Amino acid sequence: MKSEHPILYMDHAATSWPKPEQVLVAMEKAMREEGANPGRGGHMMASRAGKRLMKARMAIAELLHVRNPMDIAFMLNTTMALNTALHGYLEFGDHVIATSVEHNSVSRPLEWLKQEKGINVTYIDTLPSGEMDLNQLEAAWTAKTKLVVCNHSSNVLGSILPIAEIAMLAHDKGAKILVDAAQSAGYLPLDVEQMGIDMLAFPGHKGLLGPTGTGGLYIHPDIELRPLMQGGTGSHSDSVQHPITRPDRYEAGTPNTVGIAGLEAGVRFLLHETVENIYTKEWTLTQQLLQGFDAMTGVQWLGPDIGQARTGIVSITVEEMDAAACAFRLDREYGIAVRAGYHCSPLAHQTAGTLNEGAVRFSVGWNTTSEHINYALEAVEHLCKKG
Ligand SMILES: Cc1ncc(COP(=O)(O)O)c(C=O)c1O
Repeated sequence: MKSEHPILYMDHAATSWPKPEQVLVAMEKAMREEGANPGRGGHMMASRAGKRLMKARMAIAELLHVRNPMDIAFMLNTTMALNTALHGYLEFGDHVIATSVEHNSVSRPLEWLKQEKGINVTYIDTLPSGEMDLNQLEAAWTAKTKLVVCNHSSNVLGSILPIAEIAMLAHDKGAKILVDAAQSAGYLPLDVEQMGIDMLAFPGHKGLLGPTGTGGLYIHPDIELRPLMQGGTGSHSDSVQHPITRPDRYEAGTPNTVGIAGLEAGVRFLLHETVENIYTKEWTLTQQLLQGFDAMTGVQWLGPDIGQARTGIVSITVEEMDAAACAFRLDREYGIAVRAGYHCSPLAHQTAGTLNEGAVRFSVGWNTTSEHINYALEAVEHLCKKG
């Protein structure tokens, strides 16, 4: 195997790469032609920049089935969106239910709120594969439960949580649901209205194919959050009070117009290709990966069984090989970019039984092919033989 093989990027779960050409073109156009500050100033270029943001909001609303695009606020990433929702919604004494496969972007703000603001948190156990028994959720309920927060898909296991069922249960009991869609937006069909989602935190830079520094938060019109920041919004400029109108309330400061223009192009690419087709293609590739790993001695894969629903993530452990060393050698000797370690989710690794050694994560994306998967499998097999 040649070390000069062109890089095979299998780290889409961290951020998607490459982006479709349209994304690059849109960003260059925005920088050249729409480079003014949107909503600040009435000149034509500022107005063009403002329209760009609105068009992007509308494209995202169409993809996620959000009725009013103004209920979507742009954020820098999923983490900022999750923090806006958690810090802005919870009050002293509230009880929150999360799961044993959450990313640190959920568990760290929750632990912070527990220590600093007297919030109580229960993490319900999922199966080692990341799949969930809804009875566990019901058993964790208390009279003070105000929110369920969980990821739609685990970034370590690729498992998928039953969001519509969780939302129904939460609503029956008078609570709300906040969904971490970091690994599902653009990868799994999402219908915010039909699934009963109250708040949805999503990245622009992963499955939606936009650049880094983009993301957003959908907030149901009945929910008012304390904004994470206050400041200039270009609206109600004669007042020192932060506006209550959406989305300005949650978007203080100059936005990332160039990034959002790229995000809009990514979302339009998805609307054309359809998320359903992308899911089917990526599912087929993960099955190929799983079958290949399953046939190798010394390699163990994590997550739902072969044939079950999962997103494009397959994490493995390799007997007698450190995860970091394995990923390093895949990169340097075979040109394959994967991510090793704990993937910012010690909870998921504890659940899967890999908290001691971590794992090597392969994640596929819109441009991954069956040949890429064969190459990755050959590389792991070769590495195992070489030792
Ligand atoms: C499940 C999950 N939640 C949250 C995040 C944080 O996303 P971001 O990097 O957009 O803040 C990630 C990132 O990988 C993730 O996988």
